[in-house]
Amino acid sequence: MDEKRNIALFAPATGVPEWEALQEPLLKGNLISGAKVEAFEREFARKHRVRYAIATNNGTSSLHLILVALGIQEGDEVIISAFSWVSVINVVLYCGATPVLVDINPDTFNLDIQEVANQISKRTKAIVVGHSFGLCADLKAIAALAPEIPIIEDATCAIGSQYGYNYAGSIGIAGAFSFHSRQIITTGDGGMVTTNDEQLAEKIMALRNHGASLSVAQQRLGPKPYLTPSFNLLGFDYLLSDLQAAIGLIQLQKLDDLLSFRQYWAEYYYQQLKDLPWLKLPRVPEGYTHSWQKYVCCVNEEISPLSRNQMMEFLQTQGISTRPANLAIHTLTYNQIRFGFEEGDYPVARDCALNSLVIPLHNRMQSDDFEYVVKKLRQV
Ligand SMILES: Cc1ncc(COP(=O)(O)O)c(C=O)c1O
Repeated sequence: MDEKRNIALFAPATGVPEWEALQEPLLKGNLISGAKVEAFEREFARKHRVRYAIATNNGTSSLHLILVALGIQEGDEVIISAFSWVSVINVVLYCGATPVLVDINPDTFNLDIQEVANQISKRTKAIVVGHSFGLCADLKAIAALAPEIPIIEDATCAIGSQYGYNYAGSIGIAGAFSFHSRQIITTGDGGMVTTNDEQLAEKIMALRNHGASLSVAQQRLGPKPYLTPSFNLLGFDYLLSDLQAAIGLIQLQKLDDLLSFRQYWAEYYYQQLKDLPWLKLPRVPEGYTHSWQKYVCCVNEEISPLSRNQMMEFLQTQGISTRPANLAIHTLTYNQIRFGFEEGDYPVARDCALNSLVIPLHNRMQSDDFEYVVKKLRQV
């Protein structure tokens, strides 16, 4: 327990079952998007209680596909969080639309509802609502502001998170998921779009495959070999492979166990660290189920013995990886140059980028790893 450890911040919960699942597509030579992808989509849709799940090659392309399918274009405004991953603003820019940043609530890291209300205009064509680090945003409150504006759920970090009875990704017009290896379940890289809207689903299926109006399965198995798809849309090459889907199917079976483990150890962290006055711990509001994709604390530097950065350095010397939780989008150089943002424009996002501290919580950790993290944090 006293011995120095090497605790990663993230680690995929992959192993022998995923390795074995790769044998079938490899031995049969079925590597590209096909039967495994279809099975993965079916299982994903069933689990999330949605009509359609459409596999993609990552979370960024999932978000991009939804925006394109909704017809977002130049002249439109899309509301996004000021505290997020860079790809969220990028996909809005890919569409030629205007990103409208909104500051966050420091207790949940999700959109500040009042700020959303202030930013809605006649040009607002969509709101991208992130479920930060596995805690759902208050979707009902956001929808109530302007029921006609489509809500796109950025559920990239929120597989298994629940808003009441409903899963993240099943409530808005569409949801985007990521299976990057930092996520709770992974296919190496990969993504999924969920929706209950048939027209949107059909469009996204075509758009992810170069705009082809025949599915990949139809193209390969159709009785008319001379039949080529019609390319009515300007599409993309955003397909997931059968190799990745074979891994995804196994990962999905593990999901509930992975979540229970995370919930157990998140509660452990809370009980062990709650008396440290300088460390603000994440809390889960009534009616929400957190998936704990990340365990995000905030350091109160006014009373903390070390600054946040000194603390990260200290923990690194002890073999514990940490990171800031996310980016303050308006402080990124490209965005500052393009939009002339000032540091203080989104003060909560800026402060969270400077104060947040993600500590390790993943499914490869053992109980003594968690005890070690607690011990070292208490030593600070
Ligand atoms: C909030 C958020 N949105 C979107 C993405 C993009 O997902 P991907 O890395 O699969 O493209 C990420 C990635 O971590 C994210 O954190």
